[in-house]
Amino acid sequence: MKPSTAVLHAVRGKNNPTGAIAVPIFQSATFVHPGAGESTGYDYSRSGNPTREHAEKLVAALEHGSGALAFPSGMAATTLMMELFKPGDHIIATDDLYGGSIRLFDNVSIKNGLRTSYVDTSNIGAIETALTADTKLIFLESPTNPMMKVCDIAAIATLAHNHNIIVAVDNTFLTPYLCNPLDLGADIVIHSGTKYLAGHNDTLAGLLVVKDGDILERLRFLHKTTGAVLSPFDAYLLIRGIKTLTLRVDRSQDNALELAKWLSTQSKIRKVYYTGLETHPGYELSRKQARGFGAMLSFSTDSADTAKAMLNKVKIIQYAESLGGVESLLTYPMLQTHADIPEEIRVARGIDDCLLRMSVGIEDIGDLKDDLLNAMR
Ligand SMILES: Cc1ncc(COP(=O)(O)O)c(C=O)c1O
Repeated sequence: MKPSTAVLHAVRGKNNPTGAIAVPIFQSATFVHPGAGESTGYDYSRSGNPTREHAEKLVAALEHGSGALAFPSGMAATTLMMELFKPGDHIIATDDLYGGSIRLFDNVSIKNGLRTSYVDTSNIGAIETALTADTKLIFLESPTNPMMKVCDIAAIATLAHNHNIIVAVDNTFLTPYLCNPLDLGADIVIHSGTKYLAGHNDTLAGLLVVKDGDILERLRFLHKTTGAVLSPFDAYLLIRGIKTLTLRVDRSQDNALELAKWLSTQSKIRKVYYTGLETHPGYELSRKQARGFGAMLSFSTDSADTAKAMLNKVKIIQYAESLGGVESLLTYPMLQTHADIPEEIRVARGIDDCLLRMSVGIEDIGDLKDDLLNAMR
């Protein structure tokens, strides 16, 4: 089944005797036992809920995983994954990472005895240098956030598995439509389902998708034990959003490529970071390991004043955190997604007062260009 069919038909509800096309919202905390020691398969919604299960099976199918677990946010998913590790374990993470993941590693995981080294994971030699006998996880984003660096997932997975290290990839930006990290050798895929999967800026959700059955069972136990489970209504919204994933991503991606090329010609824009530009250092690798480039781009303006003026003056595009919804959003990583990173580290990574990140939506491309042009004047 191809992705545009799978988003609709990969999973058929088995709990739906009415034939309703839409997946029912099983808004029930608990389930009746048919008899002593008997179960319908559902006992209590923390351990299993039919609507959530449908969402989990759907994302597992799209990511080619053996199973998935759904959480109330992407950060809840990453937080639970960190419970696989024990004090003394070492983590290698990409140095250009979503700020919330850095906040988790540096403030919470560290308290649990986990050490994180941040390296440029687009350079496999840098990963090799950072390996220690205690390294248990390599945590990747591809492309990275917000500088859009691309790392070679298959090569990193080979290196990691030679050392019994788990590879987790945050696939939020590309979605399972454009890239399947598990097929490239990764062990765990993370999604902020809040973004492209749900797709309408109207719900928070998170997912872990796993290849190996043992890891899945360990995570399933942790999921029901710690209790950060996606609600039935949000699971329904996630399923509904996924139905149009491929259409939305196609349209946003077309807009993003056109905007990236156009922005590159504007006098007030110094540099555009978009993996779909042939001049991008990760262009060839992206073509090899993904079926598209996605709809996230960043750009540096000629001054901080231009960046701030753009944020203040856009009318259709909205100045807001988050990404992956149908509406185009402009983000100031320095003040929003990456505000907690110490200034000298942030600036050294290119996240300065001239950098803006754009999540390109599905609006008319002419309107988006006009909006940016007016905001740059
Ligand atoms: C790449 C990426 N991963 C994870 C997250 C966290 O997801 P959530 O906001 O759903 O907790 C975000 C949020 O912006 C993100 O951009």
